[in-house]
Amino acid sequence: DGEVYKYYADGEWKTSSSGKSVAIINPATRKPQYKVQACTQEEVNAVMEMAKSAQKSWAKTPLWKRAELLHKAAAILKDNKAPMAESLVKEIAKPAKDSVTEVVRSGDLISYCAEEGVRILGEGKFLLSDSFPGNDRTKYCLTSKIPLGVVLAIPPFNYPVNLAVSKIAPALIAGNSLVLKPPTQGAVSCLHMVHCFHLAGFPKGLISCITGKGSEIGDFLTMHPAVNCISFTGGDTGISISKKAGMIPLQMELGGKDACIVLEDADLDLVASNIIKGGFSYSGQRCTAVKVVLVMESVADELVEKVKAKVAKLTVGPPEDNSDITAVVSESSANFIEGLVMDAKEKGATFCQEYKREGNLIWPLLLDNVRPDMRIAWEEPFGPVVPVLRISSVEEGINHCNASNFGLQGCVFTKDINKAILISDAMETGTVQINSAPARGPDHFPFQGLKDSGIGSQGVTNSINLMTKVKTTVINLP
Ligand code: G3P
Repeated sequence: DGEVYKYYADGEWKTSSSGKSVAIINPATRKPQYKVQACTQEEVNAVMEMAKSAQKSWAKTPLWKRAELLHKAAAILKDNKAPMAESLVKEIAKPAKDSVTEVVRSGDLISYCAEEGVRILGEGKFLLSDSFPGNDRTKYCLTSKIPLGVVLAIPPFNYPVNLAVSKIAPALIAGNSLVLKPPTQGAVSCLHMVHCFHLAGFPKGLISCITGKGSEIGDFLTMHPAVNCISFTGGDTGISISKKAGMIPLQMELGGKDACIVLEDADLDLVASNIIKGGFSYSGQRCTAVKVVLVMESVADELVEKVKAKVAKLTVGPPEDNSDITAVVSESSANFIEGLVMDAKEKGATFCQEYKREGNLIWPLLLDNVRPDMRIAWEEPFGPVVPVLRISSVEEGINHCNASNFGLQGCVFTKDINKAILISDAMETGTVQINSAPARGPDHFPFQGLKDSGIGSQGVTNSINLMTKVKTTVINLP
């Protein structure tokens, strides 16, 4: 209907002076669904000034009051699931049920963060000088955690609400202010989410949500001198952000090529269910999706048959119908996935299903007998395509996993816990799951990638700590 969603600054909903908007295309219908403001660099400057000044008084607001407001926001968010879930369906084609789950999980995350914050920030340390050689007990050192200032949060399209609050809640409980730049696909869901924080009654200017084209305001935001911390989740844009950003803490999660190593003694039914869940949920558009299966040759035929049978049961269609497989986020993404599939075809991979695509909708595909010379063995499709590489030794699997530029998560399936631990130690990834598919949650677990998968650790506790600095006061006795 031509309505353009407003952006949020200074506790109000505003129209950009640019007079321009950015269209959000529904991935399933491929028609324009929503429009958001194309904010200008001047508007970014204004938001940063407000964030700087609001943070000063927020840092002085008692911790219990900050927690109380976050609990309120969490409750409002859960009570208002519907508009967020609906826009998640329309702008990122997330299945309806999963869209609701994302919002509920986000409310829980905010509450957990408030609780964790009052504990870890409510405690400091007291050190005595005479434990260090040559010192008498004449210095008492008091430490506490203080906020960084302005945190810039940039979540990705695949969890616009959840990966926004996983940055917002830790930032706020720790006494920081927050500027949110949502992904274009996912911006409306983020605006609804921000409205819940607005209703909770946070001080003006403390939270802002600025929408627009990355090409116009992206670098301007990430290189802005007022920003004291960037928390980014997304693709390799993160690597260029890290090169341009100033001397500030960075928290980044930039994708993965999570390997699933299957040993001969594995419970193959369990493996098959986890390949389905890990490889195909949200059509494979998760950083932590199973992106390559490395299975011992002797059990490969049996495993492939089991996975094939389960793939046949996946439903394909509109997100409104809760289809398992829905359209991928954009046409360029679908084209990229198709490129990987065609490369595998030319090089002789075995297609367990026929390749099928309509618009942005790609049918689930299991590729067997994938070899290391195929792109799909190394690149992340971010789509419903799972390659299987047959290995003749566990070492071959570990070597494949470690040869990747990514190092987010991985998983190993075996009944031998000793082997599992040794393999976990050998895999160069931030997390290894034993007998389950990779996953970020529960959201208080540490979550971090090695190599090109990112910098800094996430999870509620680590995020709060990352968004603070240690301040010490030393009492010198006469
Ligand atoms: O792709 C984003 C990443 O954080 C995955 O989260 O919950 O699907 O494991 P999750």
